[in-house]
Amino acid sequence: MSEQIPVIASNDGLYRLKWEYERERTSYTDLLCFGTADMDYRSPEPILDAMRGVLDRGHLGYPMIPERYYEVIHNWLLSIAGWDIDARCSIAQSAGIYMGAWAIISLLTRPQDMVTILTPVHFCYKEILRLNNRKIIECPLELIENGYSINFGRLEACFASGSRLLWLCNPHNPIGHAWTKAELEKIAELCLKYQVYIISDDVYCGLLFSGTSYTPIASLSKEISRYTVTLYSTSKTYNTAALRHAFLVTENPEIYKKYREFLTSMSMDYGQNIMGIEATIAALGECEEWRRKVMEKIMAAHRFLEKYFEENMPMCKVIKSDSSYFAWIDMRALKIQPQMLTHLLEQEEHMIVENGYFLGKGGAGFIRFNLACDEEHLKEGAARLKEFCFKHI
Ligand SMILES: Cc1ncc(COP(=O)(O)O)c(C=O)c1O
Repeated sequence: MSEQIPVIASNDGLYRLKWEYERERTSYTDLLCFGTADMDYRSPEPILDAMRGVLDRGHLGYPMIPERYYEVIHNWLLSIAGWDIDARCSIAQSAGIYMGAWAIISLLTRPQDMVTILTPVHFCYKEILRLNNRKIIECPLELIENGYSINFGRLEACFASGSRLLWLCNPHNPIGHAWTKAELEKIAELCLKYQVYIISDDVYCGLLFSGTSYTPIASLSKEISRYTVTLYSTSKTYNTAALRHAFLVTENPEIYKKYREFLTSMSMDYGQNIMGIEATIAALGECEEWRRKVMEKIMAAHRFLEKYFEENMPMCKVIKSDSSYFAWIDMRALKIQPQMLTHLLEQEEHMIVENGYFLGKGGAGFIRFNLACDEEHLKEGAARLKEFCFKHI
């Protein structure tokens, strides 16, 4: 495995939700954490240099967003997806992906409106919709031999039943699949047929395995783009979640105007997080080599875990994926109530992973294991999973 990406030690006095919070909560000194979706790697030097540059300039007053920010995003979307947007008229900022997603949901739907999600999906989707009084329509993904597929008949039924919006995740957390152009074309066709708007959360689009390509659904046609808002952030690919900076892209001028008004209504257009602006410029403009190295490391970790399961506990299985640092593992063969899986793993093996049970229909019996970690932790985590499997088979 590649050793060129420095790993942040797990005992160096940081304040991480992934490690220190869980250690304090459990009091286990040998706890291993594979839960929270960030990386144990040091963020790229160009980003850290950009942060230092801000501090050296010594001005932390309201920043303006420089032209370079729009240029970099424009060039990045063009290079990764051939998507040529008019950056100045279609990009707006938000304090994280979910704040932007929620703002768009509130602009495009009303309380009690139906919103479709493809499950299993990151638990925040359901939580945000539920707490904001939207009706959740779950369209479960179908497990096939080599991963997952969408049941388009079922998706059409969701739309036909009155869904106003589809909240897409591309690549999809937790299954780690980047939707193909063909899959997105079918989704787009149905959305246009039923006039369903789309929020596409593409926060994981920088974490593709080699040989996989990324298509933003909005890039398929001007028509579907008018129905779509796409959300991006450097948070997952370049490990900058603490900066709370994301941006959305919409080529629908009305949605764009409404969103800008929303920002004004919260006084959020007056000054953005300067670190987020600088990090975005550095990440999308200067960190391609770092990203490639990280992907080599993550792909090697995937291969390792897949093989480890095949050789040691074939009753369970790492599901094939093509993106992200998640291994989505089928543990349904174990004699455990699905909602207890992670609780028992924590108690018996002192390890934290995400429980698929809480990610919507189709998630029960699965766990999500974050592979963006130290090599030794990965091996030890795999060994603890083996112990666990043999205890409960
Ligand atoms: C699918 C998905 N979208 C959005 C987020 C949140 O991103 P951010 O913290 O950058 O707003 C997460 C975090 O885990 C996620 O998994």
